[in-house]
Amino acid sequence: MILSNNARDKGVKLTSDLTLTRPYACFPAKLNQVVLNLVNNAIDATPRGGEVHVDTRVNGAWVEIAVRDDGEGISDANISKIFDPFFTTKPVGKGTGLGLSISYRIVMEHQGTIAVTRNETAGVTFLIRIPTEPKDPGTRTEGAAKAAESP
Ligand SMILES: Nc1ncnc2c1ncn2[C@@H]1O[C@H](COP(=O)(O)OP(=O)(O)OP(=O)(O)O)[C@@H](O)[C@H]1O
Ligand SMILES: [Mg+2]
Repeated sequence: MILSNNARDKGVKLTSDLTLTRPYACFPAKLNQVVLNLVNNAIDATPRGGEVHVDTRVNGAWVEIAVRDDGEGISDANISKIFDPFFTTKPVGKGTGLGLSISYRIVMEHQGTIAVTRNETAGVTFLIRIPTEPKDPGTRTEGAAKAAESP
């Protein structure tokens, strides 16, 4: 609801192809936050008349969530910084620059990966992959993500 309102206000078409064929274990509220941020970023980056597409699927041992936009893309200078806390190219008061760093941490908590690629035509695609069978479900906690981040 929130996302379709944002898309409509911006004049961006929001489409999805949600083909998850089986349930999987996750922290739903946290993954929701990730998708919310990725789709809002995509809407922000896409000009009026453009399209944002969300794809979910099971691919072997992974759940994949892809968010593709038609937007302005990300420069070479910025692409290595987008997951840094407080990195934003949005005007003061609009973005905190925390969305992607929080998203990154949440994906790590799920033992997953998050990657961005440039589309052939325009814009970028963020791809999240979450294992359907986490190695040790007991470690799939915030504590585990902290441990994984430390040297
Ligand atoms: N789909 C996208 N297309 C182009 N640039 C993007 C996209 N997603 C993220 N970015 C870039 O990455 C930066 C960081 O994104 P992030 O979500 O962390 O913060 P933000 O959107 O700026 O602020 P916040 O999410 O805290 O409101 C953005 O300011 C933007 O420059
Ligand atoms: Mg954001």
